[in-house]
Amino acid sequence: MPDLTTHYLGLALRNPVVASASPLSLHLKGVRALADAGVGAIVLYSLFEEEVHREQLRDLQIVEAHEDAFGEALSYFPRQHTPEPGAAHHYLRQIERAVAAVDVPVIASLNGSTPGGWASFAASMESAGAAAIELNIYAVPGDPHTPGRIVEDRHVEILHAVKAAVTVPVAVKLSPHFSSVGEVALRLDQAGADGLVLFNRFLHPDIDPETLSVEPGVALSTPQEARLPRAWIAILHGHVAGSLAATTGVETAEDVAAYLLAGADVVMTASALLRHGVTHATTLVEGLEAWLDRKGFAHIDGVRGRLAVPREADPTAYERAGYVAALERGRATYGSLTGQGG
Ligand SMILES: Cc1cc2nc3c(=O)[nH]c(=O)nc-3n(C[C@H](O)[C@H](O)[C@H](O)COP(=O)(O)O)c2cc1C
Repeated sequence: MPDLTTHYLGLALRNPVVASASPLSLHLKGVRALADAGVGAIVLYSLFEEEVHREQLRDLQIVEAHEDAFGEALSYFPRQHTPEPGAAHHYLRQIERAVAAVDVPVIASLNGSTPGGWASFAASMESAGAAAIELNIYAVPGDPHTPGRIVEDRHVEILHAVKAAVTVPVAVKLSPHFSSVGEVALRLDQAGADGLVLFNRFLHPDIDPETLSVEPGVALSTPQEARLPRAWIAILHGHVAGSLAATTGVETAEDVAAYLLAGADVVMTASALLRHGVTHATTLVEGLEAWLDRKGFAHIDGVRGRLAVPREADPTAYERAGYVAALERGRATYGSLTGQGG
């Protein structure tokens, strides 16, 4: 049997198929089911910057309530109401319970977009037992006056804040929407990111012309969407010190294999598990094993990066050549259609 064991962010994994952040990990039952289905690691659903702010505000109110306790006792004013523990508190409990329940690494996901005190919450995630932090910087720079460099600098600043708070590895899940994705990736790598997760999939709201309303966009991905992250993994493989994780468009074991061939250390999946059920992870892992066997690979390491952009190649020219070749193939395939009838 081929050997699927691998490393991600310095963590030893039984295989490279990782459950990416999704509602499947909202409950302990889902976390257990993912581990039972055979994934190599589990990224929990995200805790948002906004939820951390609310928790920090609550903690502050508790401190203030205690500071006032003596005065209240004297003046017979009713005690200040302390809000219930919120999402951040529940998230920490979920990490503790998940870590106790499964024997694969549990990665906590912290999701934000602005520099601020929320980033230090990563320390609480580490204390709760998270093997690593996935920092999802989900920022849509909607202000058209914001220069690109400011957006990029903000990413590095947030990463520094999280890195300063923890000793466990930190991966950054980032957007594909930069002028120079590669340079941003290298900057984050040099700024201490232990891994890069390519890419965030933006769930843009859309306009429903029937109801004349704006609807949230929660559509599952398709395998065609894997081409963009796969191209960037193929370019970045061998150029970053940290790990590369692929996310988007994994439907079959062959999609996993293609990402590994491009140079991914691990391949994440969410949509396929939501679409087919958690046990689809078993299909992916067993399918990958069968593919390795069929292709004569004894170990996953023999696959990784085999079809990455060669180190000696100029990646810009390489991508351009691919683009030109694709257009030429398109002309050969469809060009005759327009020529018909004159
Ligand atoms: C319903 C749903 C919820 C998601 N929730 C999160 C989340 O909480 N945090 C996060 O970083 N990504 C989240 N994602 C993104 C996935 O982790 C993944 O990166 C993305 O869906 C692309 O992978 P896929 O094609 O395998 O779905 C979510 C995706 C879906 C479909």
